[in-house]
Amino acid sequence: MSAYSILAKYYDRLMGDFDYRGYTEFIRDKLGREGVDLACGSGEMTIALAKLGHKMTGIDLSGEMLNVATLKAKSAGVDVRWARQDISQLELAHKVDFIVCVCDGVNYLSYSQLPSFFSKVKSYLKSGGVFIFDISSEYKLTRIIGDNLFCEDYDDVTYVWSNQLGDGYVDMELDFFERLEGDIYKRVEESHRQYIHTRDQLVGLLEKDWTTQIVDGETFRDADVESKRLVFVCNLA
Ligand SMILES: C[S@@+](CC[C@H](N)C(=O)[O-])C[C@H]1O[C@@H](n2cnc3c(N)ncnc32)[C@H](O)[C@@H]1O
Repeated sequence: MSAYSILAKYYDRLMGDFDYRGYTEFIRDKLGREGVDLACGSGEMTIALAKLGHKMTGIDLSGEMLNVATLKAKSAGVDVRWARQDISQLELAHKVDFIVCVCDGVNYLSYSQLPSFFSKVKSYLKSGGVFIFDISSEYKLTRIIGDNLFCEDYDDVTYVWSNQLGDGYVDMELDFFERLEGDIYKRVEESHRQYIHTRDQLVGLLEKDWTTQIVDGETFRDADVESKRLVFVCNLA
């Protein structure tokens, strides 16, 4: 199964400890009126920003994630435009004030896709625009996630997430055991590949066109070598 086709159903539950509130607080004073959330997934950040009054578009490759996002926006009573697109081939109808890409979207792009991705993002920002994205750090992907196994057990589903560290990427196999009734489960699988990008690689790609601040994605203070998430706040140079 393709990435997020099954996970979409459980994504928000598994993301319970991700600090969207702290993230929103950190970015909210950096944003103009209209924005795009790339690899928006189930729309948690898109909807949070729409609730703050921003005119938002959420873009994702997974139709299943966009379905979840659409329902959530409806029940939150916010108006968001959703589009299914591969962000490596980004196409927007017009320029916007800000673009965000939260929680690993950039880890789904290979290093060779990044120069054209960053240049497309730049081309869709108005003058003075800001681009904010984060990555799971090299430290997290190589020391914590890579070659490791994680499990969660709920009443309705048990899932096993096993990872294999490759040369510059981590291959992730997710097995879901969905309870049908009693002790009868259905097994469904999907796989993901996340690319490892170092801080220096990204700085090298960004330095020509952007002025960049990098912070730790948990504390929103200075990042260090053991930061698990790095947030890049990029202003057009
Ligand atoms: C970890 S989720 C993050 C979702 C959301 N931004 C959040 O903060 O919860 C990564 C998302 O990236 C999307 N994605 C991966 N590769 C993509 C691509 N090439 N184009 C668009 N979306 C992509 C996946 O479908 C998934 O929804």
